[in-house]
Amino acid sequence: MKKITYKTYGPAEVMEITEASIPEPGSGEVLVKVMAAGINPVDYKVRNGSLKYIAPGKFPRTPGGEFAGVVEKNGDNSKKFSKGEKVFAMLNMAGGGYSEYLSVKEDLLSRMPEKWDFADAAVVPLAGLTALQALRDKGKISRGMKVLINGGSGGVGMFGIQIARALGAEVTAVCSGKNVDLVKGFGADRVIDYQKEDFTRLPVQFDIVLDAVAKSSPAQCSRIIKPRGTYITTVPAPGVMIRQLTNPIRSRKTFGILCKPGGEDLDNLANLMQESKIKPFIEKKYTLGQAVQAHQHIETGRVRGKLALTM
Ligand SMILES: NC(=O)c1ccc[n+]([C@@H]2O[C@H](COP(=O)([O-])OP(=O)(O)OC[C@H]3O[C@@H](n4cnc5c(N)ncnc54)[C@H](OP(=O)(O)O)[C@@H]3O)[C@@H](O)[C@H]2O)c1
Repeated sequence: MKKITYKTYGPAEVMEITEASIPEPGSGEVLVKVMAAGINPVDYKVRNGSLKYIAPGKFPRTPGGEFAGVVEKNGDNSKKFSKGEKVFAMLNMAGGGYSEYLSVKEDLLSRMPEKWDFADAAVVPLAGLTALQALRDKGKISRGMKVLINGGSGGVGMFGIQIARALGAEVTAVCSGKNVDLVKGFGADRVIDYQKEDFTRLPVQFDIVLDAVAKSSPAQCSRIIKPRGTYITTVPAPGVMIRQLTNPIRSRKTFGILCKPGGEDLDNLANLMQESKIKPFIEKKYTLGQAVQAHQHIETGRVRGKLALTM
């Protein structure tokens, strides 16, 4: 089988396509024939070494934090899924998704919604779980809340808008002018073009501000957050984490989200997918052999929706 590997941290070109033997599923694991993998900013941040102190794993490494595929074989003590079932999952930061076969703990897997194609399912888990866990666990989102999502055209923002709408919130999304129509299509009630208007100076206040692209600070957003509201960012930088520690003495709460994989939350997303409340936009699909170009694309920081690798 083929997979993408790299033996050293560095630019996209350190990645190469290599031959490997198909892994045997261990106890509690399932062997999956991967049909598509999602591409996320974390893939290049691990590859270039920026996350070397927090991302586990040894060289040679295989990138990829999410995938969709078909169950091929069960390891001992794995009974939840059977051969032929379509599944999808988020992996931990060690990655591994850019591979034709993968042995994975069955607890991480969820059944793919019927009728979904593999690429669409593969790009949901990582950004979708991040948005779900941010809005539900940190923001305590509920029906009728006002939510602002900065970075509505990226992966986390796209799913954030759709999840917040599905949970009954009123959503204002922020993106650049060229993405306004795309973001309206995700269901945002109102869209702010950041090239024309500074969202941190809006004359309204929100229950939740989710900065999906981590371009604003909690202090900058404070004036547009209701007194008991919440600021959440996807890049938990040291300043954010220090402020998070002071939440008990502040009325406006601050959180940095660190997404956790897991089949149970993914089942929740699968239900929203089944009900057509979540639908990804994939700007471009690459083949496994085009992983270098795919990383060069995501590193621009300009991806609309998501990118996928098809096997
Ligand atoms: N902590 C976690 O668990 C976790 C999980 C997932 C992601 N993340 C992080 O979250 C961030 C976002 O990831 P992502 O997957 O959503 O995609 P991304 O590839 O970082 O987002 C790309 C999008 O961001 C938009 N954008 C760029 N600058 C912007 C700005 N100043 N204001 C508003 N939008 C802007 C771009 O649109 P324009 O070109 O139109 O500006 C583009 O559509 C990344 O840093 C990622 O590493 C963290």
